[in-house]
Amino acid sequence: MEETARRVLKLHGFREIRTPLFEESAVFTSSLGEAAEIVTKQMYLFEDRGGRKVALRPEGTASVVRAFIEHGLDKSGGLTRFYYMGPMFRAERPQAGRRRQFHQLGVEVFGSASPYQDAEVLLLLVRLLKGWDVRGWVLKLNSLGCRQDREAIIEQVRAKLSPHRQKLCEDCQVRFEKNPLRILDCKESRCQELSFGIDVSTAVCGACRDHFEKVSRTLGRLKIPFEKDPHMVRGLDYYTRTAFEVIHGGLGAQNALGGGGRYDDLVELMGGSPVPAVGFAVGLERVLMAQETSSGAAQGAVADRAAAVFVSTAGSDITDGLQWVELLREKGIPAVANLEERPLKRQLEQADKWGFQWVVIRGEMEREKGVFVVKNMASRSQEEIPEKMWLNVLQKRLNRS
Ligand code: HAM
Repeated sequence: MEETARRVLKLHGFREIRTPLFEESAVFTSSLGEAAEIVTKQMYLFEDRGGRKVALRPEGTASVVRAFIEHGLDKSGGLTRFYYMGPMFRAERPQAGRRRQFHQLGVEVFGSASPYQDAEVLLLLVRLLKGWDVRGWVLKLNSLGCRQDREAIIEQVRAKLSPHRQKLCEDCQVRFEKNPLRILDCKESRCQELSFGIDVSTAVCGACRDHFEKVSRTLGRLKIPFEKDPHMVRGLDYYTRTAFEVIHGGLGAQNALGGGGRYDDLVELMGGSPVPAVGFAVGLERVLMAQETSSGAAQGAVADRAAAVFVSTAGSDITDGLQWVELLREKGIPAVANLEERPLKRQLEQADKWGFQWVVIRGEMEREKGVFVVKNMASRSQEEIPEKMWLNVLQKRLNRS
């Protein structure tokens, strides 16, 4: 998955950034939103020996912005495209699709406020999902307006929920005061029922609406299917304008494969110059789960199989086997040699279990005859090849399969 992603990201002009696994906790508390669940409940916080408050990174965006500012890139005036892959940590109750340590692939683009940039980032997201052979995903899109719209949106949510305030869950009673937008994100069914039908996009300004229209139109022209979801607010506070999520029906309750959006104020909020930005992150474990439910994954596994060769050395020297796999590897063919003294039958069973499509057999009999046997494990067919030619013939067979 990571190799596929790196190939796609390179084609899209992204460079890798690696941020530390833990940082000063303020990096996250000041950016993700004081009332965001990630901050209030899910962050692994601790004090180090020097009494400094640090946190295991719960996500990547805040760290990337911190690094972006620290290295003066906010002053460069250029377009910066970063990606990252690695573990994130959230102290949640583990369940299917929800882990305390999980892996994200994230991208962040700095320096463009254009709606076409939002569409281009989504094009990349779709390209990654295609590269991983994930099918059946749904892209949900919303506009959360700009900083100036935020008050109007919050007022709208408060006005709609105010008569039902007492019926909200305990957390949402607090959210009602601190950040009512978070109520739309609450997983409690009573809060979901009460907030059902609230449409945040009606309170956004003309310029933000225009931006959203351009993003939607461009996605249409790029043939990227999406659904408008005026209720979707995302779990983090830094988003402005475009926000999106990709969900997958095969994942159960934790159905988000990935999410992201525009965060035009975050660089300035964290102490840098104002630089518009947009990005997303995908949960890699969830992509794996979705792959398992897509039929394409099985084909992918067969393709992987076809590339690998197992060299069996029943009755002949295991060290010879180690030299033969080196010859294969030098030609760029992934290969593994038998390392155990065991009968040929056992070796073939093992090769089958491990999923090798090709086995090269060189036992005592083959040595006496001066041949190698090349066996296709899928079709069960095999051929004897004179020892001087085995490498070339195998290479030809592999190219054909
Ligand atoms: P997020 O929606 O919090 O966004 O996380 C992105 C993805 O990470 C989720 O859609 C999900 O697939 C995966 N994920 C989150 N929590 C867990 C967990 N406990 N176990 C397994 N997978 C999980 C962000 O993190 C933003 N930084 C995305 C972004 C980048 N926005 C702009 N740029």
